[in-house]
Amino acid sequence: DTTASAAPAAKKPAVPDAQTVTEVRHYTDRLFSFRCTRPASMRFRSGEFVMIGLMAMNEKTGKEKPLLRAYSIASPSWDEELEFYSIKVPDGPLTSKLQHIKVGDEIILRPKPVGTLVHDALLPGKRLWFFATGTGFAPFASLLREPQTFEDYDEIIITHTCREAGELTYGRELIEELKTDELLNEVIGEGFWKKIKYYPTTTREESARMGRITDLMRSGEAFAELGVEPLNPATDRAMICGNLAFNLELKEMLEGYGLEEGANSDPKHYVVEKAFLD
Ligand code: A2P
Repeated sequence: DTTASAAPAAKKPAVPDAQTVTEVRHYTDRLFSFRCTRPASMRFRSGEFVMIGLMAMNEKTGKEKPLLRAYSIASPSWDEELEFYSIKVPDGPLTSKLQHIKVGDEIILRPKPVGTLVHDALLPGKRLWFFATGTGFAPFASLLREPQTFEDYDEIIITHTCREAGELTYGRELIEELKTDELLNEVIGEGFWKKIKYYPTTTREESARMGRITDLMRSGEAFAELGVEPLNPATDRAMICGNLAFNLELKEMLEGYGLEEGANSDPKHYVVEKAFLD
């Protein structure tokens, strides 16, 4: 058959698994978010992560090859685009370049979502806690726009600890926007966002609430301010996503309250995932 070879060669994409950037927002000199097109066939569960990146020169071979890192998907599973929330590390191999992306640029996105911060890994409960530091808010940005979160729980408590006040902006705006989200209000029922209690704290810049969430829980201050009892395996479920030290410390605290770690194949009371660091 000669017709095929006679046809003009299809335009080769500049990068493998290419998706096109549709929006970029910068929050501080350390944080930005961006949106890109979503592969038509890609399915995922809100809270999962994928490998994304750019082509980069390999110093040893002198050849360009994909430089990829794990990124939580910050958009919900029903969104036709994908959203990511990222740190900018000045000498980070990927983020030093990724922070300069513009609308129309291509990124690499391997369409194989995985992860443990999913509803399937938790047993039914009454109250769901999201514990985040820094860019660890990303998977919760997905889950907060997922109707199931509000269908499955009576109350959702989001704690977010950051160094500086400006680092809370992405999360605060997202939670604020839920109130006027027509689709979610229609699907879940008006006023669903009233189930949310938001508890932001900063550690290195003055803000309304200072301190690490772990310390605020230990002293009992956080529970008193939120008007809830400390976590209890009979009612409370939790998802943790932050830096390594935070994850370990909080994990130990939750175990102390009697909660057990769940997995996709063995749902229990809480799950943990590490936030991306370049
Ligand atoms: P701190 O400023 O006291 O270190 P980072 O940007 O380094 O990932 O940190 C994000 C936030 O997480 C910071 O506010 C930091 O507080 C806080 N943090 C770091 N380690 C822990 C921990 N073990 N427990 C609670 N919060 C932590």
